[in-house]
Amino acid sequence: MKEIKEKEYWEHFFEKPKKHYNPYMERLKEFPEYIMYDSDLMDSYKNRWNEFFGNDNPIYIEIGSGSGNFAIGMCQKYPERNHMAMELRFKRLHSSARKSKNFNLKNVVFLRRFGEQILDFIGEGEIQGMYINFPDPWEGNEKNRIIQKPLFETLDKVMKVGGKLFFKTDHDQYYLDVLELSKELENYKVVYHTNDLHKSEKAVDNVLTEFEQLFLNKFNKNINYIEIEKIK
Ligand SMILES: C[S@@+](CC[C@H](N)C(=O)[O-])C[C@H]1O[C@@H](n2cnc3c(N)ncnc32)[C@H](O)[C@@H]1O
Repeated sequence: MKEIKEKEYWEHFFEKPKKHYNPYMERLKEFPEYIMYDSDLMDSYKNRWNEFFGNDNPIYIEIGSGSGNFAIGMCQKYPERNHMAMELRFKRLHSSARKSKNFNLKNVVFLRRFGEQILDFIGEGEIQGMYINFPDPWEGNEKNRIIQKPLFETLDKVMKVGGKLFFKTDHDQYYLDVLELSKELENYKVVYHTNDLHKSEKAVDNVLTEFEQLFLNKFNKNINYIEIEKIK
């Protein structure tokens, strides 16, 4: 009989073993209540994330959550929502979990997983919204951007009708390109957009991300913002 081998820890993150690992990789284990890195475990919650959170509240997902300030701010502001935050970098995940524990949050989980793999672990209509804040603009290699047609094909499956994609960026061309792309999308409609979020009516409710804070304080850069609703 074939023996099922327990995964070595590094196998959760890499195809091949490495000589040196980021010390924060090991330290993700310090916060089992806030960080999930086992893909099989994530996949086993497909269609039952509300069971995971222990409530029937709507679920929002964030791709590229950085050091977690946005996720934490949103969870404090909206305790009646659940927030799943996806991030790849170990130190940022560790810092997100440490801060969440300090605030004793019960409505957040950080997943060490590629944003592109959502279909593996999120079921049909399971989420109410998606946040993408300051994604890499991939200048010169725009085909690698996360906000492209395939993302909306994913949202066709995992997001409820009436749900929204929320996008913030400092990159003016990325903003214009997403507005342009939205014209080609049958099931979606831009319901709000501004090229200066902090001077808009949405500023009062805005929760800052780390990048946003930096762009504002250091560069006084305008922040672009779009809300796209799934209409059918
Ligand atoms: C420019 S940072 C922005 C971080 C945060 N959203 C903010 O606004 O401060 C982009 C983040 O996305 C993460 N990231 C990049 N590609 C990703 C992917 N495919 N899946 C999940 N996270 C990703 C990076 O590790 C990085 O922390």
